Amino acid sequence: MEPRKSVGSFLRGRARSGDVVHAGLVIALLFGVWYTQALEVSVGKINFVEAKNGSTVLLPCTYHSCIGISNLYFNWHYNDNGTMIKLCEAVIPAEGVEPNVKITHDRVEFVGTSKANNISIRLWNITFEDEGEYICFARNPKEKHRNHSAIFYLYVVTELKVVDKTLKVIISSIVGAVISALILAMVLKAVLFVVLSKAKEKNKECLVGSSGIDNTENGHTGSKADNKATPKA
Ligand SMILES: *[C@@H]1O[C@H](CO)[C@@H](O)[C@H](O)[C@H]1NC(C)=O
Ligand SMILES: *[C@@H]1O[C@H](CO)[C@@H](O)[C@H](O)[C@H]1NC(C)=O
Ligand SMILES: *[C@@H]1O[C@H](CO)[C@@H](O)[C@H](O)[C@H]1NC(C)=O
Ligand SMILES: *[C@@H]1O[C@H](CO)[C@@H](O)[C@H](O)[C@H]1NC(C)=O
Ligand SMILES: *[C@@H]1O[C@H](CO)[C@@H](O)[C@H](O)[C@H]1NC(C)=O
Repeated sequence: MEPRKSVGSFLRGRARSGDVVHAGLVIALLFGVWYTQALEVSVGKINFVEAKNGSTVLLPCTYHSCIGISNLYFNWHYNDNGTMIKLCEAVIPAEGVEPNVKITHDRVEFVGTSKANNISIRLWNITFEDEGEYICFARNPKEKHRNHSAIFYLYVVTELKVVDKTLKVIISSIVGAVISALILAMVLKAVLFVVLSKAKEKNKECLVGSSGIDNTENGHTGSKADNKATPKA
C-alpha cells in the first residue's frame, strides 16, 4: 500500500517538468519515508560517546511517531561480538504513560521518560569490556509490528587519551604554524634577495655607465676601446 502511494506521487511529479519533477520526487520520497517509518528511533546526531573507564555514560535514544503509539515495545541490546545481550525492555502502554522497565544488567539504569519520548539508559562504572555497539530497538503494534532500531557506539578510553588528542591537535597546529611561518620567511628572503640583487645589478649597470662616462671624461677611453675591440677581433 505505502510503496504504491509514493510511486503515485512520483508519477504525478513526473507529469510536471523541470525542477518541479525533482521537487515532486523529493516530496514523494519524503512521504514514502514518512509512511513506511511512522515510528522513528534515534540516538541523536552524534551516535557515539568516548568515555573514561570507570565513568558513567548516558546511552541516548528517543522515538517519534506521527501516528501515535500504543503498547510500544522497546529494548536495549549490547552487541558482544555478534551475541546480543539484552540490557532492558519495556512496553509503553500509551503516550505519556511511564513504562515499567525490566532491567537485565546490573549497571544499567533507565533514565528515559515518556513525557519526552525518551528511552535513554545510563550505564554505570564502565569498563573496557563495555566498549561497542548499543542497539536501541522499538516496535509499535499500531504499524504492523515493524521493527525500528538505532545504534549508539561507546568507546572506552584511558584518562590521558582525550587530553592527548587535543594536545596533539594543539601541538601539531602550532608546529604547522611555525613551519609555515619559516617557509614564508624563507620565500620572502629569497624573493627579497632576488629583488635586491636585481636592484644591485641595475645599480652596477648605472655605476658602470656613469663610470664609463667618468672614464671618457677622465680621458681613459683607451681601455674602453680595448675592451670593445677584443670581442670583435
Ligand atoms: C581503568 O582500567 C584499568 C585497566 O583495566 C584499571 O586498572 C583501572 O583501575 C581502571 N580505572 C577505573 C577508574 O576504573
Ligand atoms: C569475535 O568472534 C570471532 C569468532 O566468532 C573471534 O574470532 C574474534 O576473536 C572475536 N573478537 C573478539 C574481540 O572477541
Ligand atoms: C559504581 O561504582 C561505585 C564506586 O565504585 C559504587 O559505589 C556504585 O555502587 C557503582 N554503581 C553501580 C551501579 O554499579
Ligand atoms: C533523555 O533523558 C536523559 C536523562 O534525563 C537526558 O539526559 C537526555 O538529554 C534526554 N534526551 C533527550 C533527547 O531529551
Ligand atoms: C522484528 O524483530 C523480531 C525480533 O525482535 C522478529 O522476530 C520479527 O520477525 C521482526 N519483524 C519484522 C517485520 O522484521
